[in-house]
Amino acid sequence: MRSIAVIGSLNMDIVNRVEKAPLPGQTIKALETSYVPGGKGANQAVAAARAGARVEMFGAVGADTYGEILLENLRSSRVGTESVLLKQDVGTGLAFITVDELGENSIIISPGANGKVETQDVQVEERQLLEPDIIILQNEIPYSTVAYALEYFGAKGKYIIYNPAPAFAPPENAFSRVGLLILNETEAAVLSGAETGTIEEVHSAAKILVDKGCREVIVTLGAKGLFYLNREGTTVYLPAFKVAVTDTTAAGDTFVGAYATAMVEGKPVQEALRFASAASALTVTRKGAQTSIPERLEIDAFLS
Ligand code: ADP
Ligand code: NA
Repeated sequence: MRSIAVIGSLNMDIVNRVEKAPLPGQTIKALETSYVPGGKGANQAVAAARAGARVEMFGAVGADTYGEILLENLRSSRVGTESVLLKQDVGTGLAFITVDELGENSIIISPGANGKVETQDVQVEERQLLEPDIIILQNEIPYSTVAYALEYFGAKGKYIIYNPAPAFAPPENAFSRVGLLILNETEAAVLSGAETGTIEEVHSAAKILVDKGCREVIVTLGAKGLFYLNREGTTVYLPAFKVAVTDTTAAGDTFVGAYATAMVEGKPVQEALRFASAASALTVTRKGAQTSIPERLEIDAFLS
């Protein structure tokens, strides 16, 4: 089977539901606290594996209980974890998430081991005898490592999917190594330097990004759906599936993972976009990060 390597972050999300987020100097009580496996890298790996691909995760955790739980959770979703390193003298990455009664989020990320993923940690073939067809990268590990991975796998002719989240505009020379850029409206505005308020503006921003050198761009538009543009000028606008929204956490990550799976299966673009939209529509109907990511059977049932 063709395979996917995800190089990125693993976090334990510590989610506090509160009435109102605390003001400076204030102490408040949480209504409820939950621990949910997250981190953009791990979420995307889980999404791709549950959608049906063979997936290997590359990243790091600390030698603590959170790390053990995150690894066990990946394995239970059939994600290979032999390349997730145990870093000494640093904890597992944590995300402290506060959700108020209005559903408004505020987040503090403590990178921990994610901040220690170094260039030598991502030399996939040497370490794993694995020949991944697609490499997926995000911005929750040091950019120096992302830049190295872009060069290393780009030079090998691997297809690279880059999800530049959290938003950070990489140096111009990064784009020519990217096969597919997947980003939301905010990230598209930051990377293109253009407005992304209307669909025409999104089209112009995507064109700027393609002109920087990547082959294809998908701008995800939340409940509005997505916009696709490639180097040949093919455009697709696909509205989102109408679903009852519970929690949009991991919507974008599910989209990235499921799209990569559709690609390794050789699905044409239109079909791959529909498949990934269905997977992320299912994710927004459920709470949490990895807890909300659907299995292949659910995606197929949703589409049938
Ligand atoms: P991110 O989570 O990275 O900000 P988006 O919010 O753009 O990403 O969501 C990614 C994809 O998830 C969208 O393109 C869409 O397919 C799906 N999605 C997001 N929000 C909704 C929603 N409210 N209803 C249906 N699908 C949604
Ligand atoms: Na969710």
